[in-house]
Amino acid sequence: MLDIADLEVGYGESSVLRGVSLKVKPGQIVCLMGRNGVGKTTLMKSVIGLLTARRGTVAFGGEAIGKQPPDKRARAGIGYVPQGRDIFSQLTVEENLRLGLEASPRKMKQVPERLFAMFPVLQTMLKRRGGDLSGGQQQQLAIARALAAEPKLLLLDEPMEGIQPSVVAEIEHVIESIKRERTMSVLLVEQSLAFATTIADYYYVIDKGAVVLEGHSADLSVEEVKRHLLV
Ligand SMILES: Nc1ncnc2c1ncn2[C@@H]1O[C@H](COP(=O)(O)OP(=O)(O)O)[C@@H](O)[C@H]1O
Ligand SMILES: [Mg+2]
Repeated sequence: MLDIADLEVGYGESSVLRGVSLKVKPGQIVCLMGRNGVGKTTLMKSVIGLLTARRGTVAFGGEAIGKQPPDKRARAGIGYVPQGRDIFSQLTVEENLRLGLEASPRKMKQVPERLFAMFPVLQTMLKRRGGDLSGGQQQQLAIARALAAEPKLLLLDEPMEGIQPSVVAEIEHVIESIKRERTMSVLLVEQSLAFATTIADYYYVIDKGAVVLEGHSADLSVEEVKRHLLV
């Protein structure tokens, strides 16, 4: 599905990632962990095409996409929910969701009912402006918008960050339901070890520009991971 090999990427003179290899297989939920500033968001942006690699390859569905612009990657089936609830605050909830539909392969006109089943709160707020929603509701809207495009791979960058526990639980349920269906893959940046050990199939920890630990979540050693996450 997603195959990143030997990725080097950075800003200006400095490289943030120096040879990272990572895979997400079809239907897998993969959790990416690492301290603040190690380059988790940088990796996500390289996958969606907002940053260009200096070395290495990014392949999606067996095709090298490293030179493709972001809109082409989105249409190919990569959905992206950036860190920090990126919605259009001046647009209504419905308008935000419709923007998601534009990227859908089947050019759907109606927001699928499935999305409202996942996020019931959004259905009650269709005419409200995005900016009037609570932080947690905005995050649900951002995820719903990405799902409206029916991606094959969903990139979620710290979706639970700064969000009230009740909404965290709802977002977890959504990821669990995606996992049950096994029709979409997820690459999730998430600091919570509990999540990495329960919902994820596979995990990676990056530090100092490289993958320092990876494995099946079932075999994850909490002590070992913590050593890389704590300063
Ligand atoms: N636009 C940018 N310009 C320059 N440096 C950046 C930029 N964005 C991030 N960085 C730097 O790159 C490093 C990795 O950042 P980031 O990928 O956001 O880390 P993480 O998501 O793991 O917290 C940090 O040292 C950060 O300061
Ligand atoms: Mg980040």
